[in-house]
Amino acid sequence: MDTKNILELKGRRKITVLTAYDYPIASILDKAGIDIILIGDSLANVVLGLESTTQIGIEEMLHHSKAVTRAVKNALVIADMPYSSYQINSQESVKNAKRFIKEAGCQAVKLEWFPNCPEVTKNIISSGIPVMGHIGLTPQTADKIGGFKVQGKDALTAQKLIDQALILEKLGCFAILLECVPSKISELITKRLKVPTIGIGAGVHCDGQVLVVNDMLGLFERYTPKFVKQYTNLSEIILKAVQDFKNEVVQGKFPDPEHSFTIKEEEFKKIHDA
Ligand code: KIV
Repeated sequence: MDTKNILELKGRRKITVLTAYDYPIASILDKAGIDIILIGDSLANVVLGLESTTQIGIEEMLHHSKAVTRAVKNALVIADMPYSSYQINSQESVKNAKRFIKEAGCQAVKLEWFPNCPEVTKNIISSGIPVMGHIGLTPQTADKIGGFKVQGKDALTAQKLIDQALILEKLGCFAILLECVPSKISELITKRLKVPTIGIGAGVHCDGQVLVVNDMLGLFERYTPKFVKQYTNLSEIILKAVQDFKNEVVQGKFPDPEHSFTIKEEEFKKIHDA
């Protein structure tokens, strides 16, 4: 998959996107035929146990991005630019974006909307790096937009989202992620844009859907946003497996002969008799 393939999917079929942060999960997503694998900065919350995505830096994002690209053969791989790599440090944003392509082997980066977003997006795209925009609820700057709340619930703020989407499309973003936006507003944006919209908490009318993989697999128990559908509960499955292991070890049932190695009796006798 490349960004052109993703663009071509608009109006033909829905685009599937999931996050991944490591080799085993990225391999499974790719095998399942997921179109886009995103190394989200949600890595900070769901894998590293941090409170905020602003606490993760470029080195950690690169480290996990490399593990993901090692696994992926078909999907388009996008890395989230961490907050400090383009919002605090706008002058370094092109250099930092290049690291995700050159060092980690990603094909594109994703940027969350912030006041200087158009300029940074323009610079990164001019350097030849494809960009996915991200508007609506932007977790990196949640404190500046009234918290972790649905965005665009009145005409004025909804119009702002439409304007942002149109600006990002004009600047050359190949897709735009809409997070926590009323369904009717995402439908409107999706119809107005030529590039695909990818929704999370943005209703069914978007061109594609994304979820945080740990949420949909039931691997993150700290909190569950309303938009998450849990397709399985791996936490329960893992807990049961770990308890079974613990009990079998304590009871001397594991390892059994099937999981142990043997030595020929005559060899064993030699040391025994020595
Ligand atoms: O970091 C992340 O997981 C995201 C989600 C919106 C998919 O950006």
